[in-house]
Amino acid sequence: MAAIKITQKREVAVRVQRAVDDLDDTIRQIRSSIFALQATGDEESLRSRVHALVDSAAEQLGFSPSVRLDGLLDTAVDEETGEQLLAVVREALSNVARHAHAGEAVVAIDVGDDLTLRVEDDGVGIGEGGRRSGLRNMTDRAEGCGGSCTTRPRPGGGTILAWRVPLKDG
Ligand SMILES: Nc1ncnc2c1ncn2[C@@H]1O[C@H](COP(=O)(O)OP(=O)(O)OP(=O)(O)O)[C@@H](O)[C@H]1O
Ligand SMILES: [Mg+2]
Repeated sequence: MAAIKITQKREVAVRVQRAVDDLDDTIRQIRSSIFALQATGDEESLRSRVHALVDSAAEQLGFSPSVRLDGLLDTAVDEETGEQLLAVVREALSNVARHAHAGEAVVAIDVGDDLTLRVEDDGVGIGEGGRRSGLRNMTDRAEGCGGSCTTRPRPGGGTILAWRVPLKDG
């Protein structure tokens, strides 16, 4: 009687040990999957790419623009729209660096029904007339997706560039 119990106990112990080993394997796999997802997801997310792009413009600008990101940038903005956004942020900041003589700039992105970008600087403002190249390009990118791009004087001096495109899934 006692002998049977011991044998049964051993069998149970062996089974439990196997289950624990399997669980350890599973946990290891899940951990490495999470790590892989974080590694790629984080560096390549639109949010990270916006921050990296703005950081990289700081040298040319002579200051670090502040960045405000609102809404589900990483999930609600498709790849192609994200590329457009990055190109427009790049051109807008290059304009600030080369033409504005600004001391500050703000990059504000909001994701709602539309994707909106606002780039504000406290520089000299955009003069009348003159050639339009980057500005034309930013307008074309917006209008190509059913959106718009405008510039207006910033109260207190400088420029506000407002770029907007609709998002397919609202
Ligand atoms: N943030 C700004 N502050 C002051 N002036 C600006 C600003 N952005 C644009 N401008 C003025 O508007 C003009 C047109 O800008 P646009 O980006 O179209 O062309 P560009 O910057 O001169 O040339 P490119 O974009 O081809 O390098 C600029 O030459 C500049 O005079
Ligand atoms: Mg330009």
